[in-house]
Amino acid sequence: MTLENSMQQIAIVKHGAAREAFELQQVSRPTPASGQVLVEVEGFGLNYADVMARNGLYKEAPKIPFVPGYEITGRVAGMGSDVPGELQGKRVVGFTRFGGYADVALADYRAVVPIPEDMPGGEACALATQYCTAYYMTDYLGRLHAGETALIHACAGGVGTALTQLCKRSGLKVIGLCSSAQKVAYLEKTGVDFPVNYKEVDYAQAIEKAFGKRKIDLIFNTVAGSSIKNDFKLLSHGGRLFCFGGAARSGQKAHLFNDLAFLLKTGFFSPLFMMMKSHTLIGVNMLRLADHRIDIIGQCLHDLVDLWKKEEVKPHVGGTFAARDIGAAHELLESGTSTGKVYVQW
Ligand SMILES: NC(=O)c1ccc[n+]([C@@H]2O[C@H](COP(=O)([O-])OP(=O)(O)OC[C@H]3O[C@@H](n4cnc5c(N)ncnc54)[C@H](OP(=O)(O)O)[C@@H]3O)[C@@H](O)[C@H]2O)c1
Repeated sequence: MTLENSMQQIAIVKHGAAREAFELQQVSRPTPASGQVLVEVEGFGLNYADVMARNGLYKEAPKIPFVPGYEITGRVAGMGSDVPGELQGKRVVGFTRFGGYADVALADYRAVVPIPEDMPGGEACALATQYCTAYYMTDYLGRLHAGETALIHACAGGVGTALTQLCKRSGLKVIGLCSSAQKVAYLEKTGVDFPVNYKEVDYAQAIEKAFGKRKIDLIFNTVAGSSIKNDFKLLSHGGRLFCFGGAARSGQKAHLFNDLAFLLKTGFFSPLFMMMKSHTLIGVNMLRLADHRIDIIGQCLHDLVDLWKKEEVKPHVGGTFAARDIGAAHELLESGTSTGKVYVQW
């Protein structure tokens, strides 16, 4: 392996503490297959799923050792067959199905989008996964209607910030949940109409008291567990509940009993009862879309880069780290104190 054909990657080699789980490795550069581009990476973003994977709680992660990472920014330096030639040399943001924690990465060209030279890398990375997840729910699937009310869990986080901007853009009233006074201040800045610190009050009671019974039209739930049952009690007739995360499972050991308890707490729902109440429950898993409908991720990402150019969305980067400090970057995201996107650069 010569210097020119080598690259660096950060692998998870051990489940558990952030400071001990990672290894910086020197490996050979890959060759892009048909439909893939090779990107020389400026930086990559973290997602909460990376924390779950590091703790052995993410069922769909590869077996260790593996290189996590769903999104990169950088420049296209190689292409396999069947890739449109105009991507060569372009600065891009791309969705990577793992493998993003590296200074060279491969990505399916259909989810790689050229970006302006002045777009900050952290903002571009936020568009690829967190904003794509949010936009897929609000604009691709959701049909938001001005005047509706949305409840957003983990509202100060990466997806939460994206959801807030997309809901406000469509004229919705936003109720945002978070866990500290600092985050309440952040939510006020991002335009959330009714921030709730769920560590201080019972959020379901606080919302019912302020808005009345069954008044919430859209709920974006990343937590699962007992919060799903609480949320259904708040949901209006005609309301839609998106379930797209299981943060309530974090902080526990990877064990079958914990999995079962989590499943039972979350509950089982009959389509007949949902029909009677005119409720909609929608599950979202972007990894499944990446595997089977990468065109949807590409479409959402193209739309979002356009919205960024028109200044209709503005990601917030809440922490930027050097690659050698990957452990500290993970600790920040895992602590639950981060806001917006956590970004790592080479
Ligand atoms: N299904 C999908 O395809 C998909 C795609 C992207 C993201 N997600 C999910 O969306 C959520 C947000 O992702 P993100 O990357 O933007 O992360 P994030 O929101 O920046 O960080 C996670 C946040 O979750 C909140 N949280 C609530 N309960 C928690 C608990 N028991 N333990 C730890 N944190 C808890 C914390 O905020 P508070 O303390 O303020 O509540 C924390 O800051 C994650 O759950 C992620 O897995 C799902």
